[in-house]
Amino acid sequence: MLEIQDLHVKFHSRSHEAVAGVSLTIRDGEILGLVGESGSGKSVTAMSVAGLLPRRQCDYTGKILLNGQDLLHADRAQLRRIQGKEIGVVFQEPMSAMNPLMKIGEQVEEALLIHTTLTRQERRERAIAALTAVELPNPAGICEKYPHELSGGMLQRAMIAAAIVTGPGLLLLDEPTTALDVTVQAQILTLLKRLNQERGISMLFISHNLSVVRKLCGRVAVMQRGVLVEAGETEQVYAHPENEYTRHLIAAIPTRTRKEEQP
Ligand SMILES: Nc1ncnc2c1ncn2[C@@H]1O[C@H](COP(=O)(O)OP(=O)(O)O)[C@@H](O)[C@H]1O
Ligand SMILES: [Mg+2]
Repeated sequence: MLEIQDLHVKFHSRSHEAVAGVSLTIRDGEILGLVGESGSGKSVTAMSVAGLLPRRQCDYTGKILLNGQDLLHADRAQLRRIQGKEIGVVFQEPMSAMNPLMKIGEQVEEALLIHTTLTRQERRERAIAALTAVELPNPAGICEKYPHELSGGMLQRAMIAAAIVTGPGLLLLDEPTTALDVTVQAQILTLLKRLNQERGISMLFISHNLSVVRKLCGRVAVMQRGVLVEAGETEQVYAHPENEYTRHLIAAIPTRTRKEEQP
C-alpha cells in the first residue's frame, strides 16, 4: 500500500507550491486515476513517489509511505533499492525515456542489472518473459532491436516490460498513452488492466483524459493547482461530481465519447 500524507513541494524558482498538501492512498491491487489540467501537480506528485524529485531545487514536506517506509525522506541508497524494484515508472514519451543507442533487450534488463545478481542469460530470460507479458510478438527478436525500429505503441509496451521486469508491486504511469493514437491507446489500456488483474500490480494512472481514466480506474482523484479537489469511486464521481472543476472536466469530454461509453 502507498500512502501519501500531506505532500508539499515548492520549487525554489516558483512562487507557488507545485503540490500544496496532497494526501492519497493507493490500496494493494487497485488502479487509482489522477486527473487534472496541465500544471496542476500530477507529475510532481508521481516524481515524489518515484524518488525523482530534483531535491536540491525544491523544498518538500509530508510523508510518502510504501508499506510503512517513508520514501520522501529516504536516503539515496534506500531510494535506489526501491526505485525500479518495488516501483516501476512509465512516462508519456517512450522515445525520450529510452536510450536511442541501446538495444531494447539491454534496456529492459537494466533494472535487473542494478537490483539482482542474475546472470546475463537469466536476465535475458526475464526480459523475454516481460516482453511476452506485454504481448510483443517475437520477444527474442525485439531484444536485438533499437528504439527507432519500433512503433510508438510497441515502444510503450517495451517501456512497460522494463517497468515490470523486477516484479514491482506498484506502477506509476504518467500519461502513458497520451502520445499514442486512439486504437493503440485502447490496446495499452487493455494490457494495463490485464497486468493489474493477473499480477495484482497496483497503479497510479495519471491522465488529463477522463474517459481513459473511467475505463481503467476504480477510483479517481482530481487535482487542481496543487491540491485535490475531489476523490472517490470513479463511477460515483462521474455520476455526481461535487466539485465545480470536476464538472468542467466531465463536461469537456466530447459528447459522442461520453455516449459511447455509457455502460
Ligand atoms: N523542475 C521544476 N522546476 C520548477 N518548477 C517545476 C518543475 N517541475 C514542475 N514544475 C512546476 O510545478 C507545477 C506542477 O507541474 P506538473 O506536476 O508537471 O504538472 P502536471 O503534471 O499536472 O501537468 C507547474 O507549475 C510546473 O511548472
Ligand atoms: Mg505531467
